[in-house]
Amino acid sequence: MDVEVIKPLTPLYRPDERFEISAQGLEAWRQSACYQRVVDFYRHYPPRSLFNEAGRALLHHLIVMQRPERVLEIGTMFAGTTEVLARAVWEAGRGHVETIDPFGAERCPALIDAFPAELRERITFEPVSSAMHFNAAVEWGRSYDFVLIDGQHELEFVAFDLTFTARLMRPGGLIVLDNIEQIGPRFATKDFLANNPDWIDVADVVRLMDPTAPLDEPVASFPETKNYILQAPPTYLVGAVPRSSGTVRAEGGRIEGIELDLVRPASGILHVQAYVRTWGPGTGTGGEERTHRQTFSIKADRGRLRLPLETPLLSQVADHVDLDRRLEIIVAFVGDADLALAAPPMPYPARPRADFQR
Ligand SMILES: C[S@@+](CC[C@H](N)C(=O)[O-])C[C@H]1O[C@@H](n2cnc3c(N)ncnc32)[C@H](O)[C@@H]1O
Repeated sequence: MDVEVIKPLTPLYRPDERFEISAQGLEAWRQSACYQRVVDFYRHYPPRSLFNEAGRALLHHLIVMQRPERVLEIGTMFAGTTEVLARAVWEAGRGHVETIDPFGAERCPALIDAFPAELRERITFEPVSSAMHFNAAVEWGRSYDFVLIDGQHELEFVAFDLTFTARLMRPGGLIVLDNIEQIGPRFATKDFLANNPDWIDVADVVRLMDPTAPLDEPVASFPETKNYILQAPPTYLVGAVPRSSGTVRAEGGRIEGIELDLVRPASGILHVQAYVRTWGPGTGTGGEERTHRQTFSIKADRGRLRLPLETPLLSQVADHVDLDRRLEIIVAFVGDADLALAAPPMPYPARPRADFQR
C-alpha cells in the first residue's frame, strides 16, 4: 500500500472548549463550531482508517475530553485509526496508545514508522491477538483508561474482548465498540450491559435495540457513526462474587496485609484470600505456593484502611533476580451494599511490578 502524505500536527481545540462525556455533552459538542473543525480535519483523512470522519472525530473528542493515560486499540489493520488516537493523546498532552493486531507484523510497523516522531513515540504496536495481550496485561498488572474494541467481530470474540477489557478498565474508563451494525459487537454489548448493570451506556441508546427486529441497524451512541460508548463505574465495586487481581508479577514475597481506599462508608464482612507464588531456582518443578484466607468485619468511613493478616504470608524462597514471583489478591464483600473502592485492593509490603515493558 502507498503511504500517503501525513497531515501536520495541529491542535483542534481551544482551551475553553470543554464538553461533558454524556448524552447531553455529546449533543452540545455536535452543535458546536468545535465539532465542525474536528470533523473537517478528519474528512477523508487518514484514508487508512476504517472509521468515517464522524467516528474519527468522536474518538479524538473523547480522548481530548477524558485525557487518558493508557489507550488500547484492539485491531490495528492499516494504523489509520491508530493515527487518530495518537493525534488525540498528543493534543491532550498526555497518554500512550498500545495497538495490537495478530496479522499486522508485516504491515503495521512500517505504516507507524511513517508518522511524525511526536506521534510515533506515543504508539506501541504488538503483533498479538487480544487473548495474548490480555494474558500479558494481567501478568503485569496493566490497566486502561480508554479501549477501542475493533478486532474480530464475531459475537464470541467481541464478548470476550468486552468482558476482559472491563476487567482491565480503571474506574470511569471508556470503551468504544466499532461496527455495531454487525450482530457481534451489537449483541455482545447488549449482553454485557445486562450482566454488568453498574456500567454506563453513555448515550443511553443500547436499550433502543428493537427485540422484534434483531437484524436492524441500531441507533449509535453518536450520529453517523457505528459506535457504542460504554463507561466503567466510577469506583471499583466488590460484592458477593469474588474479584481477583489475577496472578500479577511482583517485587518481594511477603504479604502482611492489604490496603483499601474506601470511597464511601462500608459495613459488612470482607472475605480475603491472598496467594504468593514463586517459580525459579530452588523452587522445584511445581514452584512454591503460599496462601492465606481471612475474614474481616468492617465498619468504616471513607478513606484508607489497612487490614493486617493474622499470619503474614511469606515465601520461603529468598529473593533472587531469576525468580518469577506472583501475587494474587481475591476479595468478596457481604454487607448492606457493595464495597466501593477508588482502586483495586493492594497488598503490602510486596507490590505488583510496574514495569510492563517486555
Ligand atoms: C476492522 S479491522 C480494524 C480497523 C482499524 N481499527 C481501523 O479503524 O482502521 C479488524 C482488525 O482486527 C484484527 N484482528 C483479528 N483478530 C484479532 C484478534 N483476535 N485480536 C486483535 N485483533 C484481531 C484483524 O487482523 C484486522 O486487522
